[in-house]
Formats: sequence, structure tokens, C-alpha cells
Amino acid sequence: MTRTGPGPAGAPAAAPAGDAPTGAAAGPGWPAIEPLLRAAADEHWLARAVADLGLDRVAEVVVEELAVRCDPVPVDGAAHLAFELTSGGERACRLLTVDRDGLTSKRDGWQAAPVRITHDAVDLLRGLYGPGTDRRTSRRVTTCAELNALGPAPGGLTAIVRERQRLAVAVQAVVAACQRHPVDLGGLSTRFGSDKWADLHWYTQHYERHFARFRNAPVRVLEIGIGGYDAPDQGGASLRMWQRYFPAGLVLGLDIVPKPGVRGPRIATAVGDQGDPGLLDDLGRRFGPFDIVIDDGSHLNAHVRASFTALFPHVRPGGLYVVEDLQTAYWPGYGGTVGPVAGPGTSVGLLKQLVDGLHHREWVPPAAAPGPSYADRHAVALTIYHNLAFVEKGVNSEEGAPDFIDRGWSAPPA
Ligand SMILES: C[S@@+](CC[C@H](N)C(=O)[O-])C[C@H]1O[C@@H](n2cnc3c(N)ncnc32)[C@H](O)[C@@H]1O
Repeated sequence: MTRTGPGPAGAPAAAPAGDAPTGAAAGPGWPAIEPLLRAAADEHWLARAVADLGLDRVAEVVVEELAVRCDPVPVDGAAHLAFELTSGGERACRLLTVDRDGLTSKRDGWQAAPVRITHDAVDLLRGLYGPGTDRRTSRRVTTCAELNALGPAPGGLTAIVRERQRLAVAVQAVVAACQRHPVDLGGLSTRFGSDKWADLHWYTQHYERHFARFRNAPVRVLEIGIGGYDAPDQGGASLRMWQRYFPAGLVLGLDIVPKPGVRGPRIATAVGDQGDPGLLDDLGRRFGPFDIVIDDGSHLNAHVRASFTALFPHVRPGGLYVVEDLQTAYWPGYGGTVGPVAGPGTSVGLLKQLVDGLHHREWVPPAAAPGPSYADRHAVALTIYHNLAFVEKGVNSEEGAPDFIDRGWSAPPA
């Protein structure tokens, strides 16, 4: 694995091969945001994390997060707002610009903005990253004196009302970005340009069903296959979709092509071949354990099997390993089998093997030395849809049927 390129402003421009994936911040993983995510369950821990990081750096993290969560707004031109974070006696301000492309921020120019939105830093962070989906953060919205004092002018009252409405749309978009909302994963997929819904595939309905329990948790997600193939600045659609879907999630993408252009405050990327078990194990050790691993890479059957073997041990108990595009199990160009029965070397062959392994306690004779495999002992449930499989990790230790039940088999005499 090598680092794929420089992070955004503030991050070191490059790191030697073998270093961390790129992220929004310097150092391994997501150093600025991780302490805030870890502390988000408790106001006291959060206050300490804010003090450790410094309010200015926290403001940078927050406005990057708002840019992820703010939907484009139907305003004419751009609306400018001041955004103020307070903590104790300190404050940090940014100028937010909201338009049809979404939200961007600047350090300067906030003093002249016609509206100011003020939040307590700890309260807002708790709402953004903490537990509880219905938590509402408190805020103060202040309209500047000049705007309040405007009297009938060239354009008349109508022009004033129209300007205030334009600002109200922008304020609403920022306030909404500060709260949690239910999201439609299919809508996010099409919006960011992934083929997981209404395009080549119809996967997001299944993802919503299986990922709902993780949605508000501080999950770690690894997806193999960032997208965009040979173009370093293309791809990242599904990583952006997961970053938005999991409000407290950290998202790592792996691709065989470096992807320095794919960035986000909770996105990191790594470059490497999913057919290399050593590289995957290394990735798992450094950035796992993962709550969710998704294989949307080469879809070569040998790669799908090698990646599962290397990465399943790095999935957290209770987590999920997902394999997309099972159709290649039937395509010889991908190492699949011609005909209606996918062979043992295919992705579907792997899933059939996992069904057998799930029942290893029932085998007669019992599993021979060295015993059932790691996957046999840890895959506890399988759900298979058209072209898409979910493997749940756990401890597959339920006892087999008791010995007094006649299996119609007895061990041959020694
Ligand atoms: C279908 S695209 C991923 C799309 C993306 N997950 C999405 O939904 O937006 C597949 C990606 O896998 C990458 N890929 C191909 N072979 C690979 C390999 N051996 N290891 C890692 N990535 C690979 C390609 O470069 C390509 O960008």
C-alpha cells in the first residue's frame, strides 16, 4: 500500500510508501476528527477534545462536515452567512457561501455577512457525531442591524422580502446540515454518481435493510474499488455516499489506481491490489477492525476469494462483509464457470462453502484436523440477493445436534 497523494491544505504534501492512506488531515487515518468522534458520546470528553484540538481546528472540522451534509439550495446567485462557534469565552468564525452547488467556507469576510448563525461547539459536535438521532442542537440566528433597518428602498418592500427569503433558504440549509435526518440511500447513490441504484444495479434497497442498525454508530467502513478506473481524479461516488449515510462513520477506500482527487473529511484512500493478501492484512491491522467491508473492486473470482480470506478476520464481531457483482461467478472472463452451477473457485462457490461451514458442527464425520476454518467458525449468517451477498461475522459456536440423535452414520471401525 502506498499513500495516494497529498491531503488538503494543512496536510503534508506526501508521505513515503507504506504510510497512511490520505485523508482530510495529516497523519494516519483521520487524526483531527477521530478524537471528536470518540468523545462524542459525552459532553465532558467532548469539551476536553475541543480544548486539546483548539477551537479554530474544530471550526475547520465542523465546516468541512457541514459541506458534506448541506444539500444544494435553489437560490439565485450565492447567499453568504457568518458561522460562529463558541466554547467558554472563545469564538471562531467562518464565512459560509451557500448556492446551487452546496456549501463552501472561507476564513475571512464573515464580518460583513447579513446573517450570523452561532453554535456552542460542544453542543453542535454532540448533535453531529453523538448518539441519539433526534437530538436537536441549540443555535442563535442573528440578522445584521443594516438588514433589519432597511426601509422601503429602490425595489420597494418586495425586494427586501425577496432578499430575506433568499437568505432564509440558505439559513435553513445550514441549520438542516447541523441536524440528523433520515436519508434515502438510493437518492444519495444517484446524486453522487454510483451505479449501486437505478443504474447497473439495485443494491441500495438491500444496503438500507442491512446497514440501518449501524447508521448512527461511529462505524469504520472499507470499500474495495473507489471507481473512476484509470483516472486519478475520478471516482469516490460510493465513498461520498457512505460518508453522508453514516454521519459518524470513517470511510476508507482501496483502489489499484491512486486516487488523490477523492477527498472528504471522513474519507481516506489507499492504493493497492486486492489480490495481495499481505497488503490487505496490513490495511486491516492499521485501520481496522472494520464494521463493514464491501468488495466492489475487480470482481475477478480469485480476487473476491483472496480478499475475503484476508479481510474477514479484520471485520468486527457483529460486522458485515459484503460482496457485490456475483454475476461474474458465471462469466469465464472473470474466472467464473460456464453453465448453471458456479464452481468452487468462484465467488458463489465461496458462499456455498460458507453455508457448509456455518453447519460445521453437524458434519459427519466431524471436521478433520486442523478443524473448521476461520470463516467456518466466524460466519454466522448469510443473506444473498441477486448479485449481492452479506456475510455476518460473529462466533459460530452453537452446539451441534446431541449425540443421541441417530444420524444414520457411525464411524467406521478403526
Ligand atoms: C466498479 S468500480 C468501483 C465503483 C465504486 N465502488 C462506486 O460504487 O462508486 C471498480 C474499481 O475497482 C478498481 N480495481 C480494479 N481492480 C482492482 C484491484 N485488483 N484491486 C483494487 N481495486 C481494483 C478499479 O480501478 C475501479 O476503480
